[in-house]
Amino acid sequence: MAIERTFCIIKPDAVEKKTTGAILAKIEAAGFTIRALKYVHMSRETAEGFYAIHKARPFFGELCEFMTRSPVVIAVLEKESAVAAWRTLMGATDPAKAEPDTIRKLFGASVGENATHGSDSLENAKIEIAYFFAGSKVAPSA
Ligand code: CMP
Repeated sequence: MAIERTFCIIKPDAVEKKTTGAILAKIEAAGFTIRALKYVHMSRETAEGFYAIHKARPFFGELCEFMTRSPVVIAVLEKESAVAAWRTLMGATDPAKAEPDTIRKLFGASVGENATHGSDSLENAKIEIAYFFAGSKVAPSA
């Protein structure tokens, strides 16, 4: 197993409900190190570019509308096997199907408004981190 970095978004629904701090606390309690953190209000163009892989899906418009509704918090998380570990901590996409004590079970409301996003592979984590943090300083590993 190797130390990895993954990409995290605390989505508009969770920021609006003021659960950002609780979610970051769970992330740290699970052993992740936060290597970069930013508060961002995405433009429509930024959201459409980020979710371009879902462009053909019927929910694409609704997804981009939601993600640009209000600010999000984005982060780079580091841990051994971080991609899989962050997906496990988030829980299933649909909060109703998520395991107890996962972030989406605790803080998500629906498949669309599900509190957080996480990269689905190491390759996509690198692409997603570069999409939002290119040109920013991301802390090196200690
Ligand atoms: P996320 O991990 O951000 O990646 C794509 C997102 O699309 C996913 O989380 C869900 O929040 C969202 N999504 C998936 N299915 C639907 C749906 N049926 N309606 C609205 N949003 C959806």
